[in-house]
Amino acid sequence: MNKGTYTYPDGSRYEGEMKDDQRNGKGIWTRPDGMKFEGEWKDNKPDGYGKLTMPDGSLREGYWKQGNFVGTVQQPDLEGRVKKLEQDVQYLKQELDNLRVQQPEEFLSLDKKKEKEPARQEMKHPFSVNASSPEKVSNLRTVVQAIDITKKFGRLTALNNVNLEVKQGEVYGFIGPNGAGKTTAIRILLGILKPTQGQGMVFGKDAWKDAVEIHRNVSYVPGEVNLWPELTGGEVIDLFVRLRGANNRSRREELIQKFDLDPSKKCGTYSKGNRQKVALVAAFASDADLYILDEPSAGLDPLMDRVFRECVMEAKQAGKTVFLSSHILSEVERLCDKVSIIRQGEIIESGYLSELQHLTRTSARLETRKPVPSLSQLKGVHNLQEDGQTYSFQVDTEELDSIIKYISRFDILKLESAPPTLEDLFMRHYEVVGGGS
Ligand SMILES: Nc1ncnc2c1ncn2[C@@H]1O[C@H](COP(=O)(O)OP(=O)(O)OP(=O)(O)O)[C@@H](O)[C@H]1O
Ligand SMILES: [Mg+2]
Repeated sequence: MNKGTYTYPDGSRYEGEMKDDQRNGKGIWTRPDGMKFEGEWKDNKPDGYGKLTMPDGSLREGYWKQGNFVGTVQQPDLEGRVKKLEQDVQYLKQELDNLRVQQPEEFLSLDKKKEKEPARQEMKHPFSVNASSPEKVSNLRTVVQAIDITKKFGRLTALNNVNLEVKQGEVYGFIGPNGAGKTTAIRILLGILKPTQGQGMVFGKDAWKDAVEIHRNVSYVPGEVNLWPELTGGEVIDLFVRLRGANNRSRREELIQKFDLDPSKKCGTYSKGNRQKVALVAAFASDADLYILDEPSAGLDPLMDRVFRECVMEAKQAGKTVFLSSHILSEVERLCDKVSIIRQGEIIESGYLSELQHLTRTSARLETRKPVPSLSQLKGVHNLQEDGQTYSFQVDTEELDSIIKYISRFDILKLESAPPTLEDLFMRHYEVVGGGS
């Protein structure tokens, strides 16, 4: 029997008694993601009485029999969670320093570590897509699902009965104005927040209860990127990528170059756009099956926005799923297969872009030889502006045919129409919900 502290290649730490190099005995096992188990082990599994603290601060206390638990689960209090997260940050910073001091070689060549970590690979969810085997991609499964999610903050209903479903390999846009509830929904899907009602599901697992397991295959860019001011961009990228297990050094370098990021600067000195780049590089350098990106191109200039879109398309081509929020419609239009539009906590429209565009109005500009009487009275005509015999207006697509028949009687000189954009769709919803035209 040996007593001591052991640090595993995946960064997890064991403190206690060990037999035959196995976690056999009594001790505390802390994983980099914050999961902490205090108790007894047999054959590398919790066995006997023990306490398990999850990264979200929830606690299980009771008896384990070869990893199976019987006992009570206490949900975390918010203050406790914040405290826990602060402790985790401290712990991670310390771990990072230790690694750099103890094993600078290994820290720099993260690829080698992968070979030593078969256990983590095995833990991968069965839905995980391997880019080298496209046959697995063809079988589309539901990767993200919100089922009747309601979230209340006191009297405020931030989300009201939200439903959505994202399939494997889809790029899914979650669109809404400020305060619509995008970040709240994303936090629920990530198991950071608990829904008041309903359920978030990721990879077919419960977003709240199975958060730790789910997170192994999810890469996340938060809406507001706050980085540790004293660490450099490169260190933060390494830390995140390392926490996610598998990684690829050359991919990291490629992304840093593409995003034109100086990784040697301290995060405290980065501009908003550069902080966003750090988060994006960390997210895309990680090998995940699902990328959850909250307002990912906020703060990026058009050139970098293009780089970002390329990253999303590459992920999609590799069969990954991307769920991104935005209030920039043009971004979503160019990127996404499917969208959900959220306003004041309610999904007001959901579907494939091709379907949704049928619902929008066509913009038309018309010039006629004879004046067109009562055009504004016609069903389906909106926002008419007249300038002599030149008319600009919007048309409900389903009324287009009858309107063209009507105006053709007044000798059309010119008729221009623009295809409906999501912008129109969005504006129309604003009008409808706001009680406008
Ligand atoms: N922790 C919280 N406590 C109380 N209210 C909250 C909390 N988090 C969010 N809210 C409220 O819930 C609503 C939805 O906020 P949320 O951050 O999800 O919106 P969003 O769509 O992400 O907006 P933005 O585009 O500005 O990021 C807002 O009214 C917000 O004030
Ligand atoms: Mg937000």
